[in-house]
Amino acid sequence: MNKKVALITGVTGQDGALLSKFLIKKNYVVHGIKRRSSSFNTQRIDDIYKDPNFFKNNFFLHYGDLTDGLNIFNLINKIKPSEIYNLGAQSHVKVSFETPEYTANSDGLGVLRLLEAIKSCNLIKKTKFYQASTSEMFGSSPPIQNENTRFKPSSPYGSAKVFGYWITKNYRESYNMFASNGILFNHESHLRGETFVTKKITMAAANILKKKQSKLILGNLNAVRDWGDARDYVEGMWKILQYKKPEDFILATGKGYTVRKFVEIVFKKIGIILIWKGRKEKEKGIDSKTGKIIVEINPKYYRPNEVERLIGSNKKVKKLLNWYPKISLNEMIDNMLEHDIKNIK
Ligand code: NAP
Ligand code: GDD
Repeated sequence: MNKKVALITGVTGQDGALLSKFLIKKNYVVHGIKRRSSSFNTQRIDDIYKDPNFFKNNFFLHYGDLTDGLNIFNLINKIKPSEIYNLGAQSHVKVSFETPEYTANSDGLGVLRLLEAIKSCNLIKKTKFYQASTSEMFGSSPPIQNENTRFKPSSPYGSAKVFGYWITKNYRESYNMFASNGILFNHESHLRGETFVTKKITMAAANILKKKQSKLILGNLNAVRDWGDARDYVEGMWKILQYKKPEDFILATGKGYTVRKFVEIVFKKIGIILIWKGRKEKEKGIDSKTGKIIVEINPKYYRPNEVERLIGSNKKVKKLLNWYPKISLNEMIDNMLEHDIKNIK
């Protein structure tokens, strides 16, 4: 039987690495696009090569960049994948305020380049396309957000992703392409990038436990996010492309927590009960036993515009794809913390 062939952009990122492993276990041949970098950037996927269960013939890496249309065209023309997962993006919201044009190019126009390549290579009937859309597109629209909630993006990242969402829908409707959006709420894992808030918190807790760090410095503690486990979410991406027709789905847990609450949960796990004193920039998280300051605020981590509350409805995906989050927030944090404690240098 011919194996299915998947092409993943952003293969070196959190989701790319987890999805690669998931698809190889499902007997896919996986091709990943990675950016050229002057130093090694494949740490998250190195184990695929080392693990004897992931045979080398099932996993291939190619240099590429979503900002380079010809390169994208040539790769798609050569690989002729049955499924493309577009996970590549400048994915940091705060960074998008500093590099707005690059973010629009990679996260917005990059999607168009892939869709146009599928069309130009005459692969419309063969290739299914998944676009990594995001809850950031909802921006200032209040929760609970569902598939019909109006997009009101509050960052260059959110705005670029809104273009990606609509161009995916346009190509689906104009050319009858199997092109779907997964609108994913925040999802985390031990592979999460170190500048995202959950990983920053679990790493700090691990370091404080091992006396390698004394304080954790954060920005806005009041933002609410709907955090799920990335291992559940990559399965959801795959399910979206296995559905009988192309459609857009939200993946979310339906539960929201503040950043402050997330910090409290993590520190409680290492035996520190935090009490909060002061307001705004002066607020401090204090160890209730020792009186030591553990958390402080630095406005440099504030964003020019904040998305205050994201909590998603997973009703549609539960009903049509039987997808629901299996891993709890508690288990997710345990997994991240355990990994960070083990990896302290
Ligand atoms: P991530 O860890 O930041 O990974 C992003 C990947 O994209 C990395 O492999 C990165 O390469 C690559 N990339 C960046 N710019 C590129 C370019 N110009 N051309 C090709 N590749 C490029 O992000 P993630 O958390 O795995 O998220 C995956 C996708 O889902 C992203 O599109 C993100 O916007 C979206 N999303 C994520 C979440 C979430 O909570 N994680 C929620 C909703 C949507 P380097 O390794 O070289 O940097
Ligand atoms: N990164 C970061 N660092 N965020 C902080 C900090 C800090 O020191 N302190 C507070 N926060 C707040 C942010 O202001 C934001 O409200 C919240 O923590 C979450 O920030 P991130 O973890 O950076 O994630 P995000 O919600 O902005 O974006 C992530 O989720 C989106 C889906 O909603 C990214 O993965 C995006 O790519 C993704 O689309």
